[in-house]
Order: sequence, then C-alpha cells, then structure tokens
Amino acid sequence: MLKQLLEIQADIVSNIERNAPIIGLRNPMIGAGAEDFTWLYPEDYFWTDSFWTGNLWLAHMLTGKDELKNLARMRYAHFKDILDKPLWLNHDLGFEYSLTAVADYKLTGNRNARELALKAADALRSRFNWHGKYLVAWEAGAEDTAHAESVQGKIIIDCMQNLSLLMWAWKETNVQAYRDVAIAQADTTLKYIVRDDFSTYHTFDFDTSTNKPIKGCTHQGYADESCWSRGQAWAIHGFAQMALLTGDERYIEASMKLADYVFEHITPDLVPVWDYLLPEYEIQYKDTSAGSITAAGLFLLGEVLRSSNHIEKAVHYESFGRDMLFALRKKFDISAVPDSQGLLSNAASHLPQANEKDLDYMANAMLPYGDYYYFEAVLRAMGHKKLFW
Ligand code: GLY
Repeated sequence: MLKQLLEIQADIVSNIERNAPIIGLRNPMIGAGAEDFTWLYPEDYFWTDSFWTGNLWLAHMLTGKDELKNLARMRYAHFKDILDKPLWLNHDLGFEYSLTAVADYKLTGNRNARELALKAADALRSRFNWHGKYLVAWEAGAEDTAHAESVQGKIIIDCMQNLSLLMWAWKETNVQAYRDVAIAQADTTLKYIVRDDFSTYHTFDFDTSTNKPIKGCTHQGYADESCWSRGQAWAIHGFAQMALLTGDERYIEASMKLADYVFEHITPDLVPVWDYLLPEYEIQYKDTSAGSITAAGLFLLGEVLRSSNHIEKAVHYESFGRDMLFALRKKFDISAVPDSQGLLSNAASHLPQANEKDLDYMANAMLPYGDYYYFEAVLRAMGHKKLFW
C-alpha cells in the first residue's frame, strides 16, 4: 500500500513541478472540458484562487524546494488585493487564506503571512450575524438588490471549511470572539443544514429581519431534498476539522454519521455521483472532487478518533478513505497524462446551472479543489498530520 501511495505522490509532485511555469501567476478555476486537461482562469477573482497555491505549499513541504515556496509567495499581491475589494469578500476567505498565508506561516513562520491571515480572519468574522448566530456566506453584486437581500440570510455547508481560519486566529491571538463565531456557525449548520438522516442541504435561509429559520435548499445539487455529494464532503471534512480543533463529541459524531451516509449511498465503484439521491433516469455524472474531499475528510476523522482512543472506528473510516482514494487513482487520475495540467478528471462543478453549451466542462472536467484535496488525501493516507486547516 505504501508503494502505491508513493507512486501517486510522485505523479502528483511531478505534475505540479511540470505545470508551475505554465500556470505562472494565474489561479486555475476549472478545467476546459471533459477531454481537455488545460485550465481556465478567472478574469480577476474567484473563490477557487487558493487551491493551486495550496498544492504548491504541499509540494514544497514534501520536497523542500524553494522555487515552489517562492511561487506560492509571489501571489501575495493578489491575496492582499482581495481584502481591499468589498465585493470579493465572502465566507470563502477561509479557503483562500488557510491554503496561502496560514500555510506559509505554519511551514515557515513568515510573520507577514501571519498578519495577512489575521486580516482575512477579521474580514471573515465581520460577516457574523450575532443575533442569528450565522456567518453570511455570499456577497451579492451591488447592482442586484433582490439578490443582495436574498443572500443576506443565507448560510451554506461549504462554510464548514472556512472555520479553521477563525480557530487558527483564536489560537494565535487569544481573542475569544474568533472561536465563538466558528463554534456558533458549526452549531447553526448542525442544527439546520444537517438533516435527521445525516444527509445535508446545501444552503439554509433565515429571515433577515427576525433571523427565524425559513428553509433548506440544495442549490448545486439535484433537488432541494436531495443530497449534493460535494456538500456532504465539505461537511464530513469540516466537522472532522472542528472535532480536532475543539474535541467536541457532537462534531465527531456528526462527521461519523455524515460519512456513514456516504458509505450507505455511494455506488460500488466508490466514486461519488454528483448527487447521492440522483434518480436513475438522469445521466450519472461523477464528481471526483466529492470523492477526494470525502477521502481527505475520512483520514482526518480517523485522526480525531485515534486521538480519543477509538482505534477500531478510526481503522474503519481510514480504510473507507483509502478505498475511495484508490478508486479515484484507478479510473480518474490524469496526473501522469502528458500535457495534463491537473490531477483528476470528471468533476462536476455546477450541474443545475449548466446549459447544454457549458455541460462539457461544468459537469465533467478538472477542478482545482478536487486536485488540492486529492493531494491532501494522499498525504493524510501516508500519515501527515500537520496540514493547513
Ligand atoms: N464552494 C463551492 C463549490 O463547492 O462548488
């Protein structure tokens, strides 16, 4: 098994080193198509901006190569810029700064990176609605008033990945409010987004004047009452992070039961379809990003369970994580395909929003976050623990 993991790791690192000069200072957004393994890039900003940088930091951590570190650091002009643009500020600050400035600080002790990450944590914390006990997820364009109103009371499951930035800031500064916000958001998510059967909504709306709960929706999944597989993956990984950072039994339990739901609903090939409740008559597009995020989350859950001496349970979830990881490797790993700029094919980004023209890449292409969590999952499978969340 170690041999197989080392082979995957070697392919990933050589793909990253090969593509570093091609990608340059750009930040991959999405693959160009099902058969086109090149990246498309955002015009100026997108929530995905940090994942390639995260891969540079992971590769630097493994190889010690300074050129990878320098390439990651050369992006700071952009990451400083994000914090000065009100319309670019949303809950994704956690993704954006955990894999850039926090990664740098944790690996090298860079004090400037620490300052930048704290500034990002402040911007994230300021999105908290203290009365409703939630972090407002999205920022609407100034010109669209109706949309702006509708997003003011919206939380989303992806936000579970953004809370470790706040927990990190609390540990760095001892300012309790960072921790309080992270815990309140995790609790609100557990109460409203995680359903009784431990499937998940994608989003949940609150009335912005009373903060009373309205309803759950599944914006990127098949239907409101279905279970978007990437959302479920964000939840498994996110609650495992919060369990590790707080030791709270409720988060351990949530991560385990969310993972059990996947165990019971995943197809026998162990690569998630983009929605776990997709009717059979629909095209069964895979979402390899849901697979890699889930696999990384299962290893993280294993770590949490080991630290509380639940060894048998840890072995169960880790072995599920390994099976999912090897399933991705077997069918969808394109890291060693000549000219491939990414690591995994067949990821689904926004299926319900895709029209026929966009379907090729919105349903079935590379995704930078799928790639980042694939690398993270491989490293966790090999026993690396101190990563960036
Ligand atoms: N965070 C957005 C997505 O998972 O597509």
